[in-house]
Amino acid sequence: MGRSKWSCHHHLLVLVIVLLDVHWISPPYASAADEHVKDFYIIYLGDGPDNKDEAVKTHINLLSSLNISQEEAKERMVYSYTKAFNAFAAKLSPHEAKKMMEMEEVVGVFRNQYRQLHTTKSWDFVGLPLTAKRHLKAERDVIIGVLDTGITPDSESFQDHGLGPPPAKWKGSCGPFKNFTGCNNKLIGAKYFKHDGNVPPSETRSPIDINGHGTHTSSTAAGVLVANASLYGIASGTARGAVPSARLATYKVCWAQSGCADMDILAGFEAAIHDGVDIISISIGGPIASYSSDSISVGSFHAMRKGILTVASAGNDGPSSGTVTNHEPWILTVAASGIDRTFKSQIDLGNGKSISGMGVSMFNPKAKSYPLVSGVDVAKSSDDKYLARYCFTDSLDGKKVKGKVVVCRMGGSGVESTVKSYGGAGTIVISDQYLDNAQVFMSPATTVNTSIGDDIYRYINSTRSPSAVIQKTRQVTIPAPFVASFSSRGPNPASTRLLKPDIAAPGIDILAAFTLKRSLTGLDGDTQFSKFTFLSGTSMACPHVAGAAAYVKSFHPDWTPAAIKSAIITSAKPISPKVNKEAEFAYGGGQVNPRRAASPGLVYDMEDISYVQFLCGEGYNATTLAPLVGSRSVNCSSIVPGIGHDSLNYPTIQLTLRSAKTSTMAVFRRRVTNVGPPSSVYNGIVRAPKGVEITVEPKSLSFSKASQKRSFKVVVKAQQMTPGKILSGLLVWKSSRHSVRSPIVIYSPSD
Ligand SMILES: *[C@@H]1O[C@H](CO)[C@@H](O)[C@H](O)[C@H]1NC(C)=O
Ligand SMILES: *[C@@H]1O[C@H](CO)[C@@H](O)[C@H](O)[C@H]1NC(C)=O
Ligand SMILES: *[C@@H]1O[C@H](CO)[C@@H](O)[C@H](O)[C@H]1NC(C)=O
Ligand SMILES: *[C@@H]1O[C@H](CO)[C@@H](O)[C@H](O)[C@H]1NC(C)=O
Ligand SMILES: *[C@@H]1O[C@H](CO)[C@@H](O)[C@H](O)[C@H]1NC(C)=O
Ligand SMILES: *[C@@H]1O[C@H](CO)[C@@H](O)[C@H](O)[C@H]1NC(C)=O
Ligand SMILES: *[C@@H]1O[C@H](CO)[C@@H](O)[C@H](O)[C@H]1NC(C)=O
Repeated sequence: MGRSKWSCHHHLLVLVIVLLDVHWISPPYASAADEHVKDFYIIYLGDGPDNKDEAVKTHINLLSSLNISQEEAKERMVYSYTKAFNAFAAKLSPHEAKKMMEMEEVVGVFRNQYRQLHTTKSWDFVGLPLTAKRHLKAERDVIIGVLDTGITPDSESFQDHGLGPPPAKWKGSCGPFKNFTGCNNKLIGAKYFKHDGNVPPSETRSPIDINGHGTHTSSTAAGVLVANASLYGIASGTARGAVPSARLATYKVCWAQSGCADMDILAGFEAAIHDGVDIISISIGGPIASYSSDSISVGSFHAMRKGILTVASAGNDGPSSGTVTNHEPWILTVAASGIDRTFKSQIDLGNGKSISGMGVSMFNPKAKSYPLVSGVDVAKSSDDKYLARYCFTDSLDGKKVKGKVVVCRMGGSGVESTVKSYGGAGTIVISDQYLDNAQVFMSPATTVNTSIGDDIYRYINSTRSPSAVIQKTRQVTIPAPFVASFSSRGPNPASTRLLKPDIAAPGIDILAAFTLKRSLTGLDGDTQFSKFTFLSGTSMACPHVAGAAAYVKSFHPDWTPAAIKSAIITSAKPISPKVNKEAEFAYGGGQVNPRRAASPGLVYDMEDISYVQFLCGEGYNATTLAPLVGSRSVNCSSIVPGIGHDSLNYPTIQLTLRSAKTSTMAVFRRRVTNVGPPSSVYNGIVRAPKGVEITVEPKSLSFSKASQKRSFKVVVKAQQMTPGKILSGLLVWKSSRHSVRSPIVIYSPSD
């Protein structure tokens, strides 16, 4: 992750963490030109010896079979993964990687990649108030593992008042590390993973968070109550996580400069699985090619097999369609929605008009008004006028900027830093992007859209001495929920039969704990530091759902990851497709509703084999499945083909038309488990959009005892549809006490 990436994504304040993006079809090791260049590779092996020492020995031996000495093999070895899966990471030339792939024992070879990081009141908003019913004793036994940029152990959000020792099942550890004050009964484990040991000068060999992202996500999931938390008095209230009594374990896999390496992410998953976490929260994303070549995909699959649910962010590449990441069927994929408040600053113009801009600007103006100029008016020379529209540093004449409010088109984040550096009095940023989340500014500034920006330009042109002042930000109430424009959208780029994202949760202007090691914006000249701040992104939505999953787990400690996931999806609060035209491709089941998720009535449970059947149906074979299942032994033609159109007992349904010109029909088979009152009757209610026929058979399900299972089928018949059209249908199983809601999406692909 280069510096430019940081700043380019900065307005979202989202950490972009690396996903594995290794392609089976065109392996990156085929070129002879870069034969001498060595790169990191992850090598997956079949089921290995149970003994850790034996496994490490096998890894060294395999590596030395490339005609290199044992010493050199040890030197080139980066990780031996021996706990949750059998694999290793090592430095290889492309030719060596190819030879490795040909070995009997090896089931997959992937080049390590570095990509970018993705990057309160929200709990009351989603209906999990402080007073919600809790199973405190069980909540104390739930452990959330967070893979991120580390943590701030001395933050008030991670103090352990009243918590006893960690649950007996816990096998994790915590340092001691330099510059890390240590763990307690709240933060019960902390580890860091840096494959090359090459820790940047700004960081230390410890899980300390110098970015703030990991601290923020961890406190959202399970921070304790901190009274009177605010950002300089804005949005003040009690900050807390979903499950203030649950435990946290941090796995630092992302670093300044280098970002997050696949190898480190995989090592983080392995440690979390081995240590005994119950839920994994990972706000890391990037483009994915395949379900079996991605470190988060592989890591979360192994976690799922050990009964651990992985909750992950959907990505921040919206509103373009087909951008959702972390879209595996065993992952709970989270979109970002807005809550009912935003932050606005009033701009008072010299002509008496007032305009409202977006963003958080904590500065009270010292003067009643300041001269107002556009960047072009204060360009260094006529040659600089083009770039001066965007207020690029070297294009402006500092002397002319001093004491003025400058209007700049957004060409990148941090223009207010440039204006401030010349002694400017404020910055009005014109941008049509991301106007639904409030950026925190390091100097007086606010954002307006292009049409308002043109009004301001016209005002500047209309008078001899234009003037303006940017007032301090106020909190404003807005209609909600809605899905953030930046939140990645479906359809799932990897399968036409699996709806993603699964759920939406608050991810706009979330106030949570931060680090004092970094200024609020990280920009040059920023002198603002705070223990709490706002961040926006699916990164912030993810820990809300991880916290909700921990809340559900505290009521139902024995539920499988699939059951917890089903409970969360089917209990979600509906969002209207009128709010987001991409409908379920924006929000999945709707807005997370933790309290209802703890009592869903019925769940769609799933066994591990279903996922393999699903992947077989998607065209995977013994070779491409090997990194997931740990051997090349899967025979897709002999495992009973999965039931129904999608082979999955998934709580949502997606039918993608075969062609826009003909009608398409599919049969979906599902099975629900009674987790509500032993004796209950559910009626199937179907809502079909125009041009679609949906039937459910049987129309009623009766249960006489707990855990009883009942099967049914849903037939969806869709007529021809305009390409690109998304239609929303619905199946609800309704009893006197519960509504189990499954969205049915009918989609006509564009090409
Ligand atoms: C093994 O390495 C040695 C020395 O590095 C070299 O002379 C020999 O040709 C190599 N053998 C093979 C089979 O590559
Ligand atoms: C680590 O601690 C030392 C001494 O307390 C301090 O000088 C240094 O800045 C710290 N490093 C980080 C990354 O916090
Ligand atoms: C709450 O925080 C604000 C701003 O930090 C401060 O001015 C105020 O005194 C605090 N109130 C209490 C009761 O601690
Ligand atoms: C620009 O912002 C104003 C004020 O927030 C709003 O009324 C207007 O609809 C926006 N225009 C566009 C094109 O988004
Ligand atoms: C303002 O005036 C400048 C030239 O003085 C012109 O280039 C620009 O288009 C004008 N802007 C508006 C919005 O009228
Ligand atoms: C498995 O699938 C991959 C990618 O689709 C293909 O290249 C390979 O030939 C297949 N292997 C077998 C044994 O069919
Ligand atoms: C896979 O299963 C099919 C059907 O049972 C069988 O015909 C085939 O030989 C098997 N393939 C392998 C490689 O075992």
